[in-house]
Amino acid sequence: MGIVISPSILNADYLNLGGEVERISNADFVHVDVMDNHFVPNLSMGAPTVEALVTRATLPVDAHLMIEEADRWAPVFADLGCHSVSFHAEATAAPVRLAREIHRLGARSCLALRPATDIAPYVDLLPEFDMILIMTVEPGFGGQKFLDVMLPKIERTREAIRRTGLDVWIQVDGGVSRETIERAAAAGANNFVAGSAVYRAEDAAAEVQTLRDLASTAFHH
Ligand code: DX5
Ligand code: ZN
Repeated sequence: MGIVISPSILNADYLNLGGEVERISNADFVHVDVMDNHFVPNLSMGAPTVEALVTRATLPVDAHLMIEEADRWAPVFADLGCHSVSFHAEATAAPVRLAREIHRLGARSCLALRPATDIAPYVDLLPEFDMILIMTVEPGFGGQKFLDVMLPKIERTREAIRRTGLDVWIQVDGGVSRETIERAAAAGANNFVAGSAVYRAEDAAAEVQTLRDLASTAFHH
């Protein structure tokens, strides 16, 4: 399992999305936050924008769906060509059915957990998923402070994955920066979403590389 860096374009320049993805061409994925103003108190982009990124951007797309109707919409994002689709545990009635549907449509399937949602009820479902997304802020906005109280959940999740023997990634999203990435990696995360840390940097690609180097040194799982 390698270190994976997935910058979020939530706070990028929407008038120049193609150019904004070019700035991070050394990243592994572009992370796209889809919000419906119900699951979170914010509205971002929808399927047409994500489809344009899938078709025209140079990086594979990692879609993070912060929407109430996950069962209805997650397959749409898998079908339009996202490499990875994350839906929230709190927003699905049938996580196993949805994970299998996403796989059938050719995408990686990922279960996302808000800060107050534990991994424990989902441990037996780990074989259904390629990745667990542990939110390290309350979802909805970029630029928030990393929640250190999530570190034990990252550790518990990594330990549960280790027991399965499967290659399930752990993604952390929210407040990831030079100051916090090593703690997340040491706890067991291998996939890092960073929005403001990357897009506020003068040289976004250099910031991606710095984050990758810091995480690689700290990750020993
Ligand atoms: C927040 C989103 C994140 C956000 C991260 O709900 O899911 O992907 O863009 O932004 P930063 O890195 O600024 O916390
Ligand atoms: Zn996100």
